[in-house]
Amino acid sequence: MASVPPAAVEALATAERVTVLTGAGVSAESGIPTFRDGPDGPDGPDGLWARYDPAELATPEAFARDPGLVWRWYEWRRDLVSRARPNPAHRALADLERYCPSLILITQNVDALHQAAGSRAPLQLHGNIHRNRCSREGMLIEPDAADTRVPPACPHCGARLRPDVVWFGEPLRSEVLDAAVEAARTADVFIAAGTSSLVHPAAGLAEQAGANGATIIEINPNVTPLTGRAHYVLAARAASALAALVQALSETGGG
Ligand code: OAD
Repeated sequence: MASVPPAAVEALATAERVTVLTGAGVSAESGIPTFRDGPDGPDGPDGLWARYDPAELATPEAFARDPGLVWRWYEWRRDLVSRARPNPAHRALADLERYCPSLILITQNVDALHQAAGSRAPLQLHGNIHRNRCSREGMLIEPDAADTRVPPACPHCGARLRPDVVWFGEPLRSEVLDAAVEAARTADVFIAAGTSSLVHPAAGLAEQAGANGATIIEINPNVTPLTGRAHYVLAARAASALAALVQALSETGGG
């Protein structure tokens, strides 16, 4: 297990409000590729965006241009995610909720592995890849196996269905973003785990927490734009670092 600075554990043990932001690195050890920087270094070829162009696959323009291509890419990812199981990082965060009942978990991940591990109600900033919605009216639509079109169509208005995820250039759902900003601003401790801290507005949350006096703990084997501003940096993989943090917290008897 990773080693944890005792002062970071102390900050967590005495915090009234804890906010955690997770990114793709937290699901990496479940076998889901990150978008940037695999665990083996920033120059490693692991990130999805080193192999695929986000402009071709994860923008409204790409969907308008070639809906079948975008749909099939999301089907591939959905299949990958459906076979993945929560790893010790997801489980440690679910455990952390028991020590810190005020904990608010914010995730950029669309894989729903936090819920699978037992986290109560993560704020899914970038949506949920398991759901589809109408591209015209936005309502969530249950899958219909009889509709084999690529992509399938909305049963109400006939518009194309799209995955319920946020694409580049799209706004986040305001109620989810507002809740995340509030959780960041009121946190005593803010943990950023497995995120490159490059994509806004999620990347700004740690900054807002820090500006309001929160202790910032970063968990990432690689350096990010947040690293220099974090009070504590656990330069390790999320599974071992989060398990160590929760273990150390349990030994203080607190949270
Ligand atoms: P990224 O793929 O940008 O960054 C993943 C981060 O996880 C990197 O900083 C890695 O160093 C780190 N990492 C890799 N393996 C790790 C491990 N085992 N434990 C801990 N950290 C590890 O993922 P996000 O920051 O989540 O958005 O990316 C933000 C958004 O950019 C995503 O939600 C997605 C993407 O484009 C959209 O699709 C809109």
